[in-house]
Amino acid sequence: MEKSRNSVILFLFYLSVFYPQTDVHSFATPSDHDFSYMKFVYNATDLPSEEVYDYIVVGGGTAGCPLAATLSVNYSVLLLEKGSVPSAYPSVLHHDGILTTLTLEDNGKTPAERFTSEEGVANVRGRVLGGSSMLNIGVYSRAEKEFYAESGIEWDMDLVKRAYEWIENSIVFLPNVSRWNSVVKQGLLEAGIGPNNGFNLNHIPGTKVTGSIFDNEGRRHGAAELLNRADPENMRVAVHATVERIIFSSNASSLSARGIVYSDSHGKSHKAFVRGNGEVILSAGAIGSPQLLLLSGVGPKSYLSSVKIPVVHHEPNIGQFMRDNPRYYITILPPSPLVPSGGQTVGITRDFYIETLAGPPFSSTPFSLFPHPSIRIKINSTFGHIVGKFPGPSSYGSLTLQSSSDVKVGPNVRFNYYAHPLDLARCVSGTRKIGDLLRTNSLKPFKTQDLPGVEGFNFFGLPLPMNQTDNASFEKFCRETTATFWHYHGGCLMGKVVDGDLRVRGINTLRVVDGSTFNLSPGTNPQATLMMLGRYAGLKMLKERSTCKGCSS
Ligand SMILES: Cc1cc2nc3c(=O)[nH]c(=O)nc-3n(C[C@H](O)[C@H](O)[C@H](O)COP(=O)(O)OP(=O)(O)OC[C@H]3O[C@@H](n4cnc5c(N)ncnc54)[C@H](O)[C@@H]3O)c2cc1C
Ligand SMILES: *[C@@H]1O[C@H](CO)[C@@H](O)[C@H](O)[C@H]1NC(C)=O
Ligand SMILES: *[C@@H]1O[C@H](CO)[C@@H](O)[C@H](O)[C@H]1NC(C)=O
Ligand SMILES: *[C@@H]1O[C@H](CO)[C@@H](O)[C@H](O)[C@H]1NC(C)=O
Ligand SMILES: *[C@@H]1O[C@H](CO)[C@@H](O)[C@H](O)[C@H]1NC(C)=O
Ligand SMILES: *[C@@H]1O[C@H](CO)[C@@H](O)[C@H](O)[C@H]1NC(C)=O
Ligand SMILES: *[C@@H]1O[C@H](CO)[C@@H](O)[C@H](O)[C@H]1NC(C)=O
Ligand SMILES: *[C@@H]1O[C@H](CO)[C@@H](O)[C@H](O)[C@H]1NC(C)=O
Repeated sequence: MEKSRNSVILFLFYLSVFYPQTDVHSFATPSDHDFSYMKFVYNATDLPSEEVYDYIVVGGGTAGCPLAATLSVNYSVLLLEKGSVPSAYPSVLHHDGILTTLTLEDNGKTPAERFTSEEGVANVRGRVLGGSSMLNIGVYSRAEKEFYAESGIEWDMDLVKRAYEWIENSIVFLPNVSRWNSVVKQGLLEAGIGPNNGFNLNHIPGTKVTGSIFDNEGRRHGAAELLNRADPENMRVAVHATVERIIFSSNASSLSARGIVYSDSHGKSHKAFVRGNGEVILSAGAIGSPQLLLLSGVGPKSYLSSVKIPVVHHEPNIGQFMRDNPRYYITILPPSPLVPSGGQTVGITRDFYIETLAGPPFSSTPFSLFPHPSIRIKINSTFGHIVGKFPGPSSYGSLTLQSSSDVKVGPNVRFNYYAHPLDLARCVSGTRKIGDLLRTNSLKPFKTQDLPGVEGFNFFGLPLPMNQTDNASFEKFCRETTATFWHYHGGCLMGKVVDGDLRVRGINTLRVVDGSTFNLSPGTNPQATLMMLGRYAGLKMLKERSTCKGCSS
């Protein structure tokens, strides 16, 4: 105990010396998982067939957990999550389990729900309390200014700052940078992605060390732990609760969401309603929220009619503007083993971001790590994976239902990777920068043979093109390696489907708060902004309601 405290103090001292530009407020202190929230988590089978709450939040994910916790301070809240609790799947609780979680065969209950886009790119989404923040690689980095400017709504930037800090005080850590991540950091600086921004959570050009939701013992502190900040008297979480549709009421002049229908693990149906000025809020993610709206009769009229769903409200943009940032990457097998570590270092330019991870050997391919689901490959040594992302993307596709009655059958989704030429050009410049990175002195010790250029690296999968000026071979490389960065978003865009207060246009008491509202993926990685969004929306709703004149409380 004493020993670990000393090492924390030493570590903080080390940070204060070597990271002078840290924007310090306070961060979370490394600690064991806090499962206090379990006292208000119920198995849906144990809940009544009909109940009434002030707020109903659908989806206990990255944005849904902070939102529900925030609202519970003054109101009764029901949070519904179709997956299980994190402790049911220990691989989601620790850094060492990242690839295990992605490798678990999807049996309908496992925490990584698989899907494959129509262009054949393997992908996953979280199906567990905490959502995709319980599967991810932990990188925590705030949004760029352009995100707010181009979002289609007006933000209260002071509230944004407070919301980020609330998250950061709870579950964000200064990482203890691994050897591999510090090598890549040096390499990025050598390759010209400067300046060195030290440790910083903001989105600024240069190379930085960013935050993590993993503490220095490798424990994951995902969005589920934000539920510990709820008022336990007001908060109820139902797990194994699959929401099937929204219940509406209407009269001649208005349409309102009144509740939801959900099923438990025995297939029994339950209803929950909102009282008075209460609301239903969808936080089911970029795949889940548009799917639920369509199943509930909210969407493009002609599409809904064509799949025989009664139209409740015509909204042409639901399921439109589905985007996924492609991950372009190289994987090298180094001459001596690496210590596995997640993303800690980030290189940021206007056109691309570069990150890395060091992975352990695996004998069964983690689903979606490499692009095509049919690939069955193993790696018998540790590996360095260097990845690129670019802002946007500019290309987009759409989402349609595979079943017009069963929510358990995932929708079809198409992202149209690289349909827009800007995406391909940005991939080419990012991939070329990875070429510069591999040519630095920092990376030299990771070659297995002393050869010039990028020769001498033991590439796993496609090698990087050797000729730095041959754009065509880079374009080919980009298209052939297309994999997901797991940052897919869209389907219920801000400024299109939802207004500045995240209300679904044309419907009372219904909002959407999750990645489906984004028209671009915020920052180098989106989870910081998704958690912020949950807290932000909750604070705005509390404020609105406490100043609402005609409201009957
Ligand atoms: C493998 C992987 C690695 C990633 N790495 C990073 C990273 O390092 N850093 C980063 O910032 N981002 C990362 N991301 C992306 C990030 O985690 C996601 O963008 C983010 O978590 C999505 O948040 P969300 O709130 O929109 O949806 P989710 O967090 O996915 O939440 C949606 C929730 O709704 C539930 N749900 C859906 N439908 C229903 C229904 N009908 N009834 C009840 N519940 C329902 C789901 O089970 C889920 O829990 C990664 C993602 C993955 C998958
Ligand atoms: C929920 O209850 C059902 C039925 O009693 C049971 O099969 C399931 O295992 C329970 N799940 C959890 C997480 O307790
Ligand atoms: C940081 O990592 C190193 C090497 O993995 C380890 O020896 C050290 O104890 C860690 N420090 C802290 C504060 O976790
Ligand atoms: C219609 O319903 C809304 C919301 O419930 C209510 O405010 C309004 O007064 C109703 N209008 C009529 C004409 O009944
Ligand atoms: C990994 O496999 C290759 C052949 O595929 C073999 O040459 C090598 O010795 C193996 N390495 C380890 C560490 O087992
Ligand atoms: C590299 O590619 C460029 C553009 O295609 C070409 O002109 C040049 O000859 C190539 N260099 C080598 C060494 O192949
Ligand atoms: C190659 O791409 C770079 C940057 O993407 C661009 O500046 C250059 O003009 C391209 N060269 C050719 C021959 O297309
Ligand atoms: C909680 O509700 C009370 C009474 O309506 C109100 O005065 C107070 O401002 C509310 N608090 C928050 C945080 O909204």
